[in-house]
Amino acid sequence: MSQINYIVKPGGKLSGEFRVPGDKSISHRSIMFGAIADGTTHVTGFLQGEDSLNTLKAFRAMGVGIDGPNEKGEVTIKGVGIDGLKAPDSEIDLGNSGTSIRLMSGLLAGQAFDVMLSGDRSLSKRPMKRVTDPLALMGAKVDTDEGGRPPLRIHGGSAIQGIDYSMPMASAQVKSCILLAGMYARGKTCVTEPATTRDHTERMLNAFAYPVVTEGNRMCIEGGGRLTACDIDVPADISSAAFYMVGGSIAENSDITLQHVGINPTRTGVIDILKLMGANIELMNERVVGGEPVADIRVRSAQLKGINVPEHLVPLAIDEFPVLFVAAACADGKTVITGAEELRVKESDRIQVMADGLLAIGVDAEATADGMVINGGSIKGGKVHSRDDHRIAMAFTMAALRAESDIIIEDCENVNTSFPDFIGLANRTGISVSIAS
Ligand code: S3P
Repeated sequence: MSQINYIVKPGGKLSGEFRVPGDKSISHRSIMFGAIADGTTHVTGFLQGEDSLNTLKAFRAMGVGIDGPNEKGEVTIKGVGIDGLKAPDSEIDLGNSGTSIRLMSGLLAGQAFDVMLSGDRSLSKRPMKRVTDPLALMGAKVDTDEGGRPPLRIHGGSAIQGIDYSMPMASAQVKSCILLAGMYARGKTCVTEPATTRDHTERMLNAFAYPVVTEGNRMCIEGGGRLTACDIDVPADISSAAFYMVGGSIAENSDITLQHVGINPTRTGVIDILKLMGANIELMNERVVGGEPVADIRVRSAQLKGINVPEHLVPLAIDEFPVLFVAAACADGKTVITGAEELRVKESDRIQVMADGLLAIGVDAEATADGMVINGGSIKGGKVHSRDDHRIAMAFTMAALRAESDIIIEDCENVNTSFPDFIGLANRTGISVSIAS
């Protein structure tokens, strides 16, 4: 594959009403739960990005009939029941997707067959002990490569036991992995999280009539249940909308409305943080669709100011920091982010890669062990590298709205994992970006 680089022209104003692609977390889960449900699940608004398509292909490889997605994002999943998955013919390649590998390791730990899960260069560097340790406590047999990295070799036929597990880090992927393994376990499985993380697994299992009981920061599930197929309407991804929340705030004379965005309270940290910075963000037409709250979000230009980001908001905005660092670069004064060490183990080390990129375009940014200190001011322009990370590429695209000269972003193929047609939408809404390979 030839390398794709973005060239983004400086300046521009954003306008229009539009819908960004479907929520990645919800799209993954709709396939996984639809696949093992009794009956047929209909999904609309499915994210046609590489990550969620890799989950879809994985379940097809395990014998699940899945039609779509068509151009409207409609997917039909003919569920095979909780014990109906079949051994795939070969290893399953999950590409860039941490959510796929971590959730599927839990779901597959209790199957009768062996399976191997692998991924691309970025995924192959990411830590998996955070899931294999609790799975081992449950009696599962999962081998990793050196240093606890993928590929994962899951040995089927293990008797899985319920556990009561306190997670050492705030991770929705680890919580979900354990709850999914818990469906195949003897007895009850409980997970306690050190801080609130996204709750799509809990909401969607309940929608599939498999009860998950949440009491404060502890979630419990009983083994041996079944899922009943249902319809899922996937809202637009707040993590993709976040690029436009920042873009619409920092670009002068902008006024945009983002339609049908998921505003689950475990995901809205980005709105809270931007509002603390002085952003002009308005939620309209709030409604509940398929168990998830949704709204249209209007964003108008505002002069942002630097803040100390409250640590309790960090897990609620965990995927939005690359673009929040860009917001801080455009703010008056100093922004300090702490308690965000999880950013170092995402698709890239998002603290280091963003600090390197911000420095390269003339921003006063300093990486710290668990966050960053950014003194807002002007953005000059220059060349940055995405380091295999979609959100780094999209964050620097938005930075150009306030730059003095072009920003060139190297290695942007990965944008397709979460935001198909990012370039097309960017150009339609007022960002001048072209591709150079
Ligand atoms: C996700 C959880 C988060 C997030 C990721 C999607 C999920 O990861 O960063 O993009 O769908 O459960 P962690 O649970 O590792 O924080």
